[in-house]
Amino acid sequence: MSVKTVKASQVIMTELVLPNHTNPHSHLLGGQLMLWVDICAALCAARHSNAVCVTASVDKIDFHHPIKLGEVVTLEASVNRVFNSSLEVGVKIYAESFYSGVKIHSNSAYLTFVSINSEGKPVPAPKIIPETEDEKRRFEHAGVRREQRLKNRIK
Ligand SMILES: CC(C)(COP(=O)(O)OP(=O)(O)OC[C@H]1O[C@@H](n2cnc3c(N)ncnc32)[C@H](O)[C@@H]1OP(=O)(O)O)[C@@H](O)C(=O)NCCC(=O)NCCS
Repeated sequence: MSVKTVKASQVIMTELVLPNHTNPHSHLLGGQLMLWVDICAALCAARHSNAVCVTASVDKIDFHHPIKLGEVVTLEASVNRVFNSSLEVGVKIYAESFYSGVKIHSNSAYLTFVSINSEGKPVPAPKIIPETEDEKRRFEHAGVRREQRLKNRIK
C-alpha cells in the first residue's frame, strides 16, 4: 500500500458568484456553496486515492457571513487523514472582493469519502503522512471526529 503526502492531493478551486448562484438578496445560496464544497473535496479525495470516491458524510457546515454577488469564492481542500477505505477531507472557504481587496475565511467543512472499486465496494486508500504542524494537528483531530461519526452512524 502506497503512502502519499497531503500536499500531493490538495485542490484549490475558484468560483465567481453569479446571479444564478444567489437568493433575492443577492447572497450566495447555501446549497450552491455546498455543491462547490462537495466537488472540491471529491476531486481531492480522488487525486489522493486514484480511485472513484463517494461522499459518505458531510459534517455540519455553519454559515457565518453572507457571500455576495460578484465576490470570488476560493475553496482549499486537503486530505486530513485516511482510515481504511474512508478518508476525511477538510475544505476551507474564503470569500473575497477584488474591488475592496477584503478576503475573509467564511466557512470550513469536513467530509468523509469512501474509495470504491468498479462494483461499488469499498477498497483501501493509500495512507497519508502529515508533515507540517498544521497537518499533524488536523490528522489528530480527524481521528476524534471519526469516532463521533461512527457513534452517530445509522446502519
Ligand atoms: C459509502 C458506502 C460506499 C459505504 O459502504 P458500506 O457497505 O456501508 O461500507 P462499510 O460499512 O464497509 O464502510 C466502509 C467505510 O465507510 C465508512 N463509512 C460508511 N458510512 C459512513 C458515514 N456515514 N460516515 C463516515 N464514514 C462512513 C466506514 O467507517 C468504513 O470506513 P473504513 O474502511 O475507513 O473503516 C455506501 O454506503 C454507499 O455507496 N453510499 C452511497 C454514497 C453516495 O451515493 N454518495 C453520494 C454520491 S457520490
